[in-house]
Amino acid sequence: MSAHEPLVFSGMQPTGNLHLGNYLGAIRNWLKLQQQYRCIYCVVDMHAITVDHDPKALAQATREVTAAYIASGIDPKRSIIFNQSQVTAHAELAWIFNCVARVGWLNRMTQFKEKAGKNSEKMSVGLYTYPVLMAADILAYRATHVPVGDDQKQHVELARDIAQKFNNDFGVADFFPQPEPIITGPATRVMSLRDGTAKMSKSDASDNSRINLTDDADTIAQKFRKAKTDPLPLPEAEAELKARPEADNLISIYAAFAEKGKQAVLDEFKGAQFSTFKGALSELVVARLSPIAGEMRRLLGDPAEIDRILHKGAEQARAIAAPVMAEVRRVVGFVS
Ligand code: TYM
Repeated sequence: MSAHEPLVFSGMQPTGNLHLGNYLGAIRNWLKLQQQYRCIYCVVDMHAITVDHDPKALAQATREVTAAYIASGIDPKRSIIFNQSQVTAHAELAWIFNCVARVGWLNRMTQFKEKAGKNSEKMSVGLYTYPVLMAADILAYRATHVPVGDDQKQHVELARDIAQKFNNDFGVADFFPQPEPIITGPATRVMSLRDGTAKMSKSDASDNSRINLTDDADTIAQKFRKAKTDPLPLPEAEAELKARPEADNLISIYAAFAEKGKQAVLDEFKGAQFSTFKGALSELVVARLSPIAGEMRRLLGDPAEIDRILHKGAEQARAIAAPVMAEVRRVVGFVS
């Protein structure tokens, strides 16, 4: 049993539009956790500059992601919401962790390999050490639980390794907790609407591959209509979805929004053609997302209020990280 108080930490990059994958894989689980635990939800703007970026667009995207959190139901009175760059502990701890993590560990990170492809020599050093900053995000607060989509599992595991090596190297058993990834729900990996074997992603060149949280009803319906499928009607049993990635993805999205299991959705739609099912799916998704998009628009009408929320959240975050960082400096041997 860890002696650490349960604390939830997670974050999202302010790069481009948030989409269904971000919502179902992460934000929806964050909402449930805030009922029960102390939660910190960060807009990770320092991660966003690991690739080329436009400063104006970054500031706008930071406010949009904040608005998306709040519009989805993250309550700034209950949970701490702030942007990473306002709390310097993240950068400071990331440097110390850069000296704890091993090059071999980072060489195994699949996300860097995917993002860099054959161009790894031309990528920023920040993109390479990105998962180390992520470990610092989590551990600056001694967070114990990290709700994320499936694609972030390896990064949270790296944070566990870094925590353990720090504790061992400096002889401070249990100084940092071993953060647990929380990857739950029927849609931990939402796939592209154009290719059932690729993850839905902000960086996909085709906007038709994803449903953005701000898409209007017609756009959502059109994207689902165009979504790739196979020619067969929907199957009877969940096991049959394994060989049909596009069908599996659409059923998973429906199941997640309807808060049902995939089998229960198939019981309702077995034998149906995709055209029928896609109509029902669009209706359900529009009903769930349009209030969020409306609330986002309202919040974005008052950017000063969003900045106030981020400011206040940053103050609260600093207060939690400060005693941890004071101890870290002492343990490492920095004179202060
Ligand atoms: P990011 O910004 O890429 O994604 C934010 C969250 O959305 C989840 N997600 C998905 N879930 C299901 N299906 C998808 N297609 C899909 N696409 C994205 C991600 O798993 C994530 O939970 N490195 C992180 C941000 C981060 C962070 C942290 C997370 C920085 N520091 C500390 C947790 C703790 C990232 O790039 O997420």
